[in-house]
Amino acid sequence: MKVVDTIPRMSTLVKIFKKEGKSISLIPTMGYLHEGHLSLVRAARKHTDVVVMSIFVNPMQFGPKEDFEKYPRDLKRDEHLAASAGVDVIFHPSVSDMYPAGYSTYVEVCGLGDTLCGASRPGHFKGVTTVVAKLFQIVRPNIAYFGQKDAQQAIIIKKMTEDLNMGIEIKIMPIVREPDGLAMSSRNAYLSPAERKNAPALYESLKKAETLVRSGEKDAAKIIKATEDMIRVIPNAKIDYVSMVDPRNLKKIKTVTGETLIALAVFIGKTRLIDNIIVKGAK
Ligand code: PAJ
Repeated sequence: MKVVDTIPRMSTLVKIFKKEGKSISLIPTMGYLHEGHLSLVRAARKHTDVVVMSIFVNPMQFGPKEDFEKYPRDLKRDEHLAASAGVDVIFHPSVSDMYPAGYSTYVEVCGLGDTLCGASRPGHFKGVTTVVAKLFQIVRPNIAYFGQKDAQQAIIIKKMTEDLNMGIEIKIMPIVREPDGLAMSSRNAYLSPAERKNAPALYESLKKAETLVRSGEKDAAKIIKATEDMIRVIPNAKIDYVSMVDPRNLKKIKTVTGETLIALAVFIGKTRLIDNIIVKGAK
């Protein structure tokens, strides 16, 4: 496995791969890898000749009061995990390489980035689409892999790729969970032992919502209330949102008829966790 830390070196390598007729997949990450990230590598490994993983904690997608500085970083650990999962190249550029002084170009998908997570994290998705567009330009992948864990991000990136005719296939892979149901996340490292013990209640609340839908409940307001009631009893939990939306366009739904995305963001103590589930209502 190669570790490449400048854009010119990555571009040279990409040129060589293309000349050799090799297909490339890209897995964009911010590092501090866990099984969720590695599941994307394993999927990519089956479909392309070369698997590139980017590891870049992107300052542009963090708000001024968010955790950019303290976001967990451990490149050596990531290198071992990435190599053992089958990554061929880690691309690990510096902030000044990606955003040199005077940087002024942004990519924004209008209309999808200001609801759900975007409502409480203004500018977040503009930062995500800008960095992902740059990574796509540099690595020129045939396929890029993302996780359903960040459902809104996945939808926005798909839209960007289509709208800008990028010609990159976007694959969205299922959420990988801890044995107790908590969705894996680099931010789980922030949780105190007591918070970690309580955190699986988020997924339990989503399962409860799913059970209600399965039993015939169609009223989104009632389902959201039942979900929120389960979250409110978690010590130190503060709900950012629980929403039921159309998974294709993130529009709020009132009545569950077809596929519905139930997404939530909840602070447990100071840690903001997200999770989601797709449920199928009867027509
Ligand atoms: P990061 O949070 O490191 O996640 C990298 C990729 O791993 C994303 O596509 C995310 O959805 C996926 N992922 C994270 N946890 C997962 C889980 N439990 N199961 C399945 N997939 C999971 O998302 C980002 O980084 C950044 O916003 C990025 C796209 C790299 C742009 O900076």
